[in-house]
Amino acid sequence: MTTHSIYPHESVQEQENRLLQIRNKRDLSCFDVVSIDDLTRKDIDLILEIAEEMKQSGTKKLGLLKGATIVNAFYENSTRTKTSFEMAGKHLGADTINISGSSSSTKKGESYQDTTMTLSAYGAQVIIIRSEYSGLPQQLKKHVSSAIINAGDGWHEHPSQALLDVKTMIDHHGTLEGKIITMVGDIMHSRVFGSVARIIKKMGGTLRIACPLTFVPENVETVFNVEIFTDIEKALQGADVVYALRVQEERGSGGFIPSLREYSKTFGITKERLELANKNAILMHPGPVIRDIDMHSALVTLDDKARILDQVENGMAIRGTLQWLLGKRYDGKVKPYQTI
Ligand code: CP
Repeated sequence: MTTHSIYPHESVQEQENRLLQIRNKRDLSCFDVVSIDDLTRKDIDLILEIAEEMKQSGTKKLGLLKGATIVNAFYENSTRTKTSFEMAGKHLGADTINISGSSSSTKKGESYQDTTMTLSAYGAQVIIIRSEYSGLPQQLKKHVSSAIINAGDGWHEHPSQALLDVKTMIDHHGTLEGKIITMVGDIMHSRVFGSVARIIKKMGGTLRIACPLTFVPENVETVFNVEIFTDIEKALQGADVVYALRVQEERGSGGFIPSLREYSKTFGITKERLELANKNAILMHPGPVIRDIDMHSALVTLDDKARILDQVENGMAIRGTLQWLLGKRYDGKVKPYQTI
């Protein structure tokens, strides 16, 4: 969490009480977060409010998740998401356990359902799942009492990423109402797009996409109410947020464009292109950034524009909030599930 607490003199107990006061008035309307569709606008506002308070708590370790067990089941590679879920869980006092594709019994042929039911039977309050299979967390959540958090499933969704992205946008612009967000890149294969598109719609922003037509998912215009641009210069004019995405070669994106060099020339973010956006616009990317393909290398840390490391920092606060809200319910409701 940030080292600059606005409550430097508060004790751990006082910080916990401040968070509990917000929490005791409201709870999430859902038991799992596998899609942004699981969250109401009120849920999103609660998550953002608690995340900001957690961020402001600074580096002091809290005990809000003391006694809780959180499992990070990452069947696909990750740097940011895995690290921040684990660090945030530890920061809140939870016991965190990691399993990966290579270390789990799924490698011996056990189904993901049996593996997840086993982890839940050990008493894990929260199981965080990343996988290459779109829809896997949606299936698994029905079979366990543990809360399931989707940490990215195939091409489908990455809800904690979208929440930290919205926090980053609101930290800068104050609101998304009336703001224009331009996403540039491999929209077709991006689970980040899947969640960002859903959340922007709920938060009252306007979403534009800029990419080759081969990267435009079917019906995206009507389903997500987005404007499609194949001319990046036009897409960037008047934008409040420029959000670049990686070309996902591991998902076969290379077959949709003539070459990375040609793609980068036509859609890569350059300083000149960034200047077409609003003066107060920010530059975002979920990471990992492929420098000089997604954007010019010098832009990654451009002082007044780049918010990529702010996204990373907000990831800790958002992911800690999700684990706390889902791991310990205060409304007394018990998640229904069936072990078949
Ligand atoms: N943005 C994101 O999901 O990054 P990782 O793959 O490193 O977790």
